[in-house]
Amino acid sequence: MERGTQFFYMLSMLVAIAMSAGHFPGALAQSAKARPNGGDDLRAAYATAPDVAEGRRVAETCARCHGMNGISTTKGVPHVAGQRPAYLYAKLLAYQTGARRDHSMEATVKFLSDDALVKVAAYYASLDPAPPLAAAKTPPARPDPVVAGKAAAAGCGGCHGEDGVSKTPGMPSLAGLDPKYLVVAMKGYVDGQRKNDIMKSLIAPFTDADLNNIALYYALQKPGRASAPAPGNQAAGKKAAAACAGCHGDQGVSTNPANPSLAGQDAQYLGAALRAYKGGSRTEGSMKNAVVPLDDRTIDDLAAFYAAQQPRPPKVVRPLSTAEWVQRCDRCHGVSGNSTDPRTPALAAQRVDYFDKVLRAYRAGDRKDSVMAAMSGTLSEADIASLAAHYARQRPRAFVYVTLPCK
Ligand code: HEC
Ligand code: HEC
Ligand code: HEC
Ligand code: HEC
Repeated sequence: MERGTQFFYMLSMLVAIAMSAGHFPGALAQSAKARPNGGDDLRAAYATAPDVAEGRRVAETCARCHGMNGISTTKGVPHVAGQRPAYLYAKLLAYQTGARRDHSMEATVKFLSDDALVKVAAYYASLDPAPPLAAAKTPPARPDPVVAGKAAAAGCGGCHGEDGVSKTPGMPSLAGLDPKYLVVAMKGYVDGQRKNDIMKSLIAPFTDADLNNIALYYALQKPGRASAPAPGNQAAGKKAAAACAGCHGDQGVSTNPANPSLAGQDAQYLGAALRAYKGGSRTEGSMKNAVVPLDDRTIDDLAAFYAAQQPRPPKVVRPLSTAEWVQRCDRCHGVSGNSTDPRTPALAAQRVDYFDKVLRAYRAGDRKDSVMAAMSGTLSEADIASLAAHYARQRPRAFVYVTLPCK
């Protein structure tokens, strides 16, 4: 049999990793007292050799999914070998009580006694963990979206200005516009809502992911007032702009991503855009009624007013890189996903498909855990894929049971 027999001969317990690292002095004291009659969540962490042997028999009902060696070969089924023992026990209880929902698991643990759960948890925890996935078998780390966006936008600065603040009359600034708006605007040139052949040919080759990156890059650049002079009358423009404030914000700073900010935008461009909605070469419906009453002069005045306003950046935060996420995850899950707390799951070498599935489940609220709901809430699809690949590549450390001397 596995490491079990040699190792567990007359052992008691546990927790070597956690205790030696000094994380749970309280738990150690408690465990010594609680051991004889059980009842605390660390029981599986100080199992004896006979416990583990009994756990092995229970595991025969688990093996068709998790394997006798705890290394799953089935999509969506986690590796449990070497997983932290008190965590395994707590989750088995959670499936049993319905606190965690999963059909396969509920059906299996329904009729097992508490004692059987402790022992099967101890058994799987005692096994050697799955090997890490070779780097070649995981996708490369996700490129930083802002860096990728800047690279993709290399050819845009000649017209839109270095860092997206226009210096050329008629060219719109892009810096500090909401990324959702920028994506819609760029797609508008490709799908024909906006007629501009140059922009169409420039945007058409990009994938959706490219456009998201470009939009994020520009959204995070510091906005500035475009420098070209504006012919209209700002005071008259301010009056006329009362009709626009509901969508574009009081001073042209919009708080709704669907409606672009206009503050500081190039005046000639603003005028051209308004004429385009009026003339029908821009067909997006929101502006249809707003432009009906505008004559040429009012358009110039509006453009002069908005061009003179102070632009403000949207509330967009730079997304964390995978390395920055990993730092945060490792605070609980241990260095390289090797948890030192017997109650917190290790992530090292976990299956990519399972990792991916459960992070989505926490994010959607299908798997309930307040900490993980908060952690996963802002993860993008690309973050999840990248984190799953990262942890699958980490070398797992076995859970160390300490052998106590025979009496
Ligand atoms: C029919 C297949 C099947 C059987 C049999 C089965 N499991 Fe599972 N097990 C699963 C699946 C699928 C999941 C993932 C469920 C989820 O997403 O919450 C799981 C999850 C778990 C987890 C949670 C792991 C983690 O990292 O959170 C533990 C622990 C576990 N199983 C242990 C057992 C034990 C012990 C047995 C036998 C008593 C057993 N399972 C029997 C399919 C199975
Ligand atoms: C040759 C000059 C030129 C280049 C190069 C160029 N653009 Fe443009 N872009 C324009 C002009 C002109 C408009 C205004 C078109 C119109 O009237 O709708 C525009 C409009 C836009 C808009 C809409 C702005 C808004 O406020 O709605 C976006 C977004 C944009 N461009 C992104 C890009 C990106 C990204 C690139 C590089 C891949 C790029 N452009 C390259 C000239 C250019
Ligand atoms: C019902 C909401 C609404 C009102 C009212 C409204 N707008 Fe808009 N405006 C929008 C939306 C949405 C867009 C983006 C349309 C698109 O994708 O082409 C837009 C686009 C624009 C643009 C193009 C910006 C760019 O960067 O390309 C200008 C300029 C503009 N509006 C000015 C005005 C002015 C001036 C008024 C008042 C006379 C006004 N809008 C009233 C919703 C509104
Ligand atoms: C504050 C502590 C904490 C942080 C930070 C944290 N986690 Fe967790 N994580 C937990 C706990 C506790 C659980 C067990 C939750 C449960 O019982 O379902 C868990 C469960 C998980 C699981 C399920 C493991 C399994 O075997 O089913 C995954 C995957 C996971 N976390 C990934 C992450 C990732 C990725 C991050 C960083 C983005 C992260 N966690 C950050 C505490 C944390």
